[in-house]
Amino acid sequence: MSCVLVTGGAGFIGSHIVDRLISRGETVTVLDNLSSPAGDYYKHLIDNRLVKFIKGDIRDHKTVLNACKNVKKIFHFAADPRVDASVFNPVESFMINTLGTLNILEAARQTDVERIIFASSGGTLYGETDIFPTPENTPLKPVSCYGASKASCEMYCSAYSHSYGLNIISCRFANIFGPRSTHGVIYDFYYKLIKNPEELEILGNGEQKKSYLYIDDCVDAVFHLEDQNIKGFDFFNIGSEEWITVKKIADVIVETLGLKNVKYKFTGGERGWIGDIPKMLLDIEKIKRLGWKPKITIVDGIKKFINHLHC
Ligand SMILES: NC(=O)c1ccc[n+]([C@@H]2O[C@H](COP(=O)([O-])OP(=O)(O)OC[C@H]3O[C@@H](n4cnc5c(N)ncnc54)[C@H](O)[C@@H]3O)[C@@H](O)[C@H]2O)c1
Repeated sequence: MSCVLVTGGAGFIGSHIVDRLISRGETVTVLDNLSSPAGDYYKHLIDNRLVKFIKGDIRDHKTVLNACKNVKKIFHFAADPRVDASVFNPVESFMINTLGTLNILEAARQTDVERIIFASSGGTLYGETDIFPTPENTPLKPVSCYGASKASCEMYCSAYSHSYGLNIISCRFANIFGPRSTHGVIYDFYYKLIKNPEELEILGNGEQKKSYLYIDDCVDAVFHLEDQNIKGFDFFNIGSEEWITVKKIADVIVETLGLKNVKYKFTGGERGWIGDIPKMLLDIEKIKRLGWKPKITIVDGIKKFINHLHC
């Protein structure tokens, strides 16, 4: 019987993908090296007869080949998603993200895999564009090594699709947030405020303005694309149609937590860290034409996530 492989299935987005597959009765192999702080979200699935867990590294070709046994479809979500870390360790980012993806593609070519759904990134691929919202045909000009690694993955996806007949969908995500996420501004602000409810350090000048998407909408979008039976290689922005400043995010979290007179301490400058993109809003018309659109507003999503973390 064929099964679905989810790489990074113990992480934030990947574990939600696994949950959705299981709810549809699919047999799932999870391949994850448990390197991320988020990386134990498979534990509730340990006794599930539909799930086989392989602790292994996508950089290891033999492991990946083994994981691809009886697999027709791969959700490739394993990566080092830290944009800031990629700036300090670009080679590591390349090895995990690009070489890891090449291993997946190579194993897919050597086995019976027919389709790959790849977790790419919208904002970091387009870099500092001045086109907002940013459509998929915008030239790719990454400004971080993470963005460069994802862009090179997409180039290999395109080449493998054309050369070996694999069907590959690249999901160019905005910032995804919600339960099980362990990085990103909303998560960071919450834990900073729990530690010190009187003062909040905000990286940059707080005017960075970006698009965020709640995890439930993200998973819906991925499965919506998967259902379309798209042939060849194609790529889609997946995000919301709104953007929000970092300062406004802080305001929403402070209000949700019922805090008063919190002093904001800005570190200054238009970006939070090297490789940060001050503005990001993806054009989602392409996926909307296929019938998907986000249901949860950014502010409602932030409130939901904060209430989840705080309960
Ligand atoms: N979260 C976002 O906002 C966002 C935005 C754009 C793209 N993405 C992409 O979506 C995917 C999932 O991101 P996430 O936020 O869930 O991150 P995450 O860190 O929670 O999940 C990644 C998982 O991959 C695993 N992993 C890392 N290196 C590995 C390796 N060498 N071999 C095997 N497993 C490995 C980790 O243990 C982790 O469980 C990533 O590809 C990321 O680049 C995420």
